[in-house]
Amino acid sequence: MMESKAIWMNGELVPFREAKLHFLTPALHYGVSAFEGIRCYRTVRGPAVFRLREHIERLVDSAHIMGWRELPFSVDELVEACRKTVQANGFEECYIRPLIYLAEGGWNLTVDAGKPHVGIAVWEWKQYLGAEAAEHGVRANISTFTRHHPNVMMTKAKIGGNYPNSVLAKTESLRLGFEEAIMLDSQGHVAECTGENIFLVKRGRVLTPPDVHILQGLTRDSVLHLLADLGHHVEQQAISRDQLYTADEVFVCGTAAEVIGLREIDFRTIGSGRTGPVTRAAQQAYHALVRGEHPRSDGWLTPIYG
Ligand SMILES: Cc1ncc(COP(=O)(O)O)c(C=O)c1O
Repeated sequence: MMESKAIWMNGELVPFREAKLHFLTPALHYGVSAFEGIRCYRTVRGPAVFRLREHIERLVDSAHIMGWRELPFSVDELVEACRKTVQANGFEECYIRPLIYLAEGGWNLTVDAGKPHVGIAVWEWKQYLGAEAAEHGVRANISTFTRHHPNVMMTKAKIGGNYPNSVLAKTESLRLGFEEAIMLDSQGHVAECTGENIFLVKRGRVLTPPDVHILQGLTRDSVLHLLADLGHHVEQQAISRDQLYTADEVFVCGTAAEVIGLREIDFRTIGSGRTGPVTRAAQQAYHALVRGEHPRSDGWLTPIYG
């Protein structure tokens, strides 16, 4: 499923099967890496990447938070490398995964003793939560696992070692028969899902948790703009678990999932149990936006060719 022609490794395009790492790569043992999840969409003007520069800036911010002082490539070079990797693989639509990882030392648990290596892979990946999800919404649970305390792991960074927290929650959720897990922060307030941010709608008010404990999703930011265009002011405030239960609509958003309604949480139907009007409006606007069919598209899409 993830096979492609080539992977970009430290400045060179390498055939897919030759993009290998040594077993003693420290990043593999300690999770010392920073990554991004980016999407390239088919548009009328050819394949284009949604908010590419901002994703790369967040990647570099994640590396900075991790403690790397210098990276071997600049933001501009990494933006170009992503375009080049998509070109080399000939995809019209794909997921783009850049990764900065600790290599060549660092066994004493410092980033300074090793070197940051960089790779970029692309693959065709269309539906993250399944084809039915966008239409009918999904069922979620409140995870028994707590989102990271912001002084334990750095929640603004997409660091590899942050993600076992998501893996614990998502594995539990799927084994329980749900499709996604909602995680509470260390104070018990709603934080985010395993790979998405969350919004609720109640009597026309739209709420989303503040930035403190969450990854500041670029989809979340895009949805904030789209909802403002549609005349909704979104309040960023602490949200409790029972506020979700009694909401008219709850939806989640992320690069992989796009915008998806939650029709049930912890066996409680949310609102009508169908994707509600605010969720649908955000979903349709986002769908148009990433495919080059929205007034905001030009500013946020980077063409792969030309
Ligand atoms: C924990 C977490 N929250 C939220 C998001 C959504 O972020 P974005 O919209 O930038 O993909 C992601 C996905 O990257 C994530 O891993």
